[in-house]
Amino acid sequence: MTERIVLAYSGGLDTSVAIGWIGEATGAEVIAVAVDVGQGGESLETIRQRALGCGAVEAYVADASDEFADEYCMPALKANALYQGHYPLVSAISRPVIVKHLVKAAREFGATTVAHGCTGKGNDQVRFEVGIQTLGPDLKCIAPVRDLALTRDKAIAFAEEKGLPIETTKKNPYSIDQNVWGRAVETGYLEDIWNAPTKDIYDYTATPEFPPAPDEVTISFEAGIPVAIDGVKVTPLQAIKELNRRAGAQGVGRIDVVEDRLVGIKSREIYEAPGAMALITAHKHLEDITVEREQARFKATVGQRWSELVYDGQWFSPLKRSLDAFIDDTQRYVTGDIRMVLHGGQAIVNGRRSETSLYDFDLATYDTGDTFDQSMARGFIELWGMSAKVASGRDIRVAGK
Ligand code: ARG
Repeated sequence: MTERIVLAYSGGLDTSVAIGWIGEATGAEVIAVAVDVGQGGESLETIRQRALGCGAVEAYVADASDEFADEYCMPALKANALYQGHYPLVSAISRPVIVKHLVKAAREFGATTVAHGCTGKGNDQVRFEVGIQTLGPDLKCIAPVRDLALTRDKAIAFAEEKGLPIETTKKNPYSIDQNVWGRAVETGYLEDIWNAPTKDIYDYTATPEFPPAPDEVTISFEAGIPVAIDGVKVTPLQAIKELNRRAGAQGVGRIDVVEDRLVGIKSREIYEAPGAMALITAHKHLEDITVEREQARFKATVGQRWSELVYDGQWFSPLKRSLDAFIDDTQRYVTGDIRMVLHGGQAIVNGRRSETSLYDFDLATYDTGDTFDQSMARGFIELWGMSAKVASGRDIRVAGK
């Protein structure tokens, strides 16, 4: 029987050519797998037809946008996940859901190998292949760009020679990856890290310099998950989309960073994640009133480690699963409303309320009604500083000798 390979298919030039390229190099039949993670653009049907037109024997298309929002974006939100304090893991969280569908398609169509369009220099090859190894240990992996010398020039020549139904003339100098959680743009002019991004780079966000009137929004959460916007019930996917639109219109969520790739390279990336950044900001502020101090401090460390694991392709790892259990436990009381103003590139919280809040007005107030006994503070401070005071006494004693 002819060997079968499932290919992670985007509908773009490289993966369209990869269908025939893999076929010629390996003699295998190629099944294209296209997964909708809310990237917008062409319909799955258009993409399916193109895959078949480019020589795929079958096309598996899946609308995974709700699955992606519920099971990938929401855990990232609960973790307040920002790799290196900046990057909301846009591409990193999409790979595991695509991997799930690749493995499912491989089983359905009896494939032995999974192919993807990544280069040998990035994080995504690692995320795909570590994920495949974990969910389908018997499956092999192949990357035509990395393993079968499929360069851009060869891809264009191949598409023209075979008359593939794909545009070869549109020259986009950037490498772009996008989904509902955000958009990542790299390469080209951006590789000089002193170059400021030009306006044409952005798509999810309007320029914040000339913002429309301020937009005030109230986001309601239940156990860390957004459930309503301005009182209207929403699913996680709807919440992200609505905030992509409203925060995007205000230029919220533009990020320009040089980040540490897993493969040891520092690389420049421009991100736009208006919905994700507005949600993370609101969620963090709700945690500030609902999560106990020590739990909150520890959670920040856990969230950072979670982000590194996910960035590094360890979505399906035992440690990541254990950290999820911790994070979920912290979300028990993260229920309530956050009001924020979206304006001029910023999302600024100006009100919060929660039935499960730990904010105690009577303890906090400087006005009448104060229930805090200030006389307790003196003894507390004495003991709190005792250890350092004893050590400092020792320092003075030793230095004097
Ligand atoms: N640097 C990001 C990551 O590793 C995004 C990678 C994909 N970016 C792109 N522009 N193609 O998660």
